[in-house]
Amino acid sequence: MNVPQIDQMNAGGGLPLLSVRRLRVEFPSRRGTLLALDDVSFDIARGEVLGVVGESGAGKSLTGAAIIGLLEPPGRIAGGEILLDGEAIHELSGEAMRRLRGRRIAMIFQDPLTSLNPLYTVGEQLVETMLTHLELTPAAARERALALLDEVGIPAPAQRIDHYPHQFSGGMRQRVVIALALCAEPELIIADEPTTALDVSVQAQIIALLRRLCRQHRTAVMLVTHDMGVIAETADRVAVMYAGRVVEIGPVDEVVRAPAHPYTRGLMGAIPVLGAEVERLVQIDGAMPRLDAIPPGCAFHPRCTAAFARCHAERPELLPAGATRAACWLYAPAEMAEGGGR
Ligand SMILES: Nc1ncnc2c1ncn2[C@@H]1O[C@H](COP(=O)(O)OP(=O)(O)OP(=O)(O)O)[C@@H](O)[C@H]1O
Ligand code: SF4
Ligand SMILES: [Mg+2]
Repeated sequence: MNVPQIDQMNAGGGLPLLSVRRLRVEFPSRRGTLLALDDVSFDIARGEVLGVVGESGAGKSLTGAAIIGLLEPPGRIAGGEILLDGEAIHELSGEAMRRLRGRRIAMIFQDPLTSLNPLYTVGEQLVETMLTHLELTPAAARERALALLDEVGIPAPAQRIDHYPHQFSGGMRQRVVIALALCAEPELIIADEPTTALDVSVQAQIIALLRRLCRQHRTAVMLVTHDMGVIAETADRVAVMYAGRVVEIGPVDEVVRAPAHPYTRGLMGAIPVLGAEVERLVQIDGAMPRLDAIPPGCAFHPRCTAAFARCHAERPELLPAGATRAACWLYAPAEMAEGGGR
């Protein structure tokens, strides 16, 4: 059977900006090697927002860390490839990766203080980042820093540019981080729970800002979040992760309105969707397995109300499932013929 292995929903048709193929990340330990990411594949097109969702421990942050070359040892890429505009970046040296980081791929973490140095003013940090990556004079960099602070909605940027991170509120700090991420005009931003640490009242503003600026600058975004509402508002496509694998991927409207994978259906049950036709599970019983106890076959089978014999023995790859693709045997052609699927 010819199973499509790579995420092929990249509407533009051309070379995707980012292509993650069969990525495997492992952690060697005394009790054996833990496989934390197992054959993760997806693409992100230029200017596209890919939302990444899944329970705690599913592998969302590790995927981001692997892409940007910040896996913490002993974690390591054990297989697969990561292509940026066709170039294999998983093989780059530490030095080459450092040059690429900030310049072509930037990162926004949950806690703005992770990205900011408390000892320098925000202006110094913006200017320093631009001088590292762009051919600008210090005066031009400062001018651009001012414009960026204004663009991200910092009031009175001419004064605020000389302030230190601790002089900003959490929401304002994350705006500064967004300015810092954008300042070298990267092609991709990996935003890992960028608003989780912020006050609920400013979360929506920050997400809206990120989306608007990335659209304007045509920056692609990998947006990791627990918040399906944020995904529905922001993402073009969604990848759902479970136990170190992508179990469903597709256009956001389809994944939210008509999720194919039983796990995604359960996840979507957590948010009310108006006009939804899919019967929703109230809740998914049980917990995601630990890395050292991932069940054979479909890792979701102990929690799946639709599981059948094949699910216990064979691991499903992503299969076409309506308008999305789902790693679920319900969508194997034979099962579909027998009346399976949705
Ligand atoms: N240094 C490490 N050693 C061993 N296992 C690790 C290490 N770092 C992460 N893991 C494991 O890798 C898996 C994926 O972790 P990851 O941080 O990517 O999850 P996540 O999806 O981002 O979760 P969360 O929503 O909680 O941020 C988890 O099971 C985690 O325990
Ligand atoms: S493959 Fe089987 S166990 Fe896994 S999600 Fe599909 S039906 Fe459920
Ligand atoms: Mg995480």
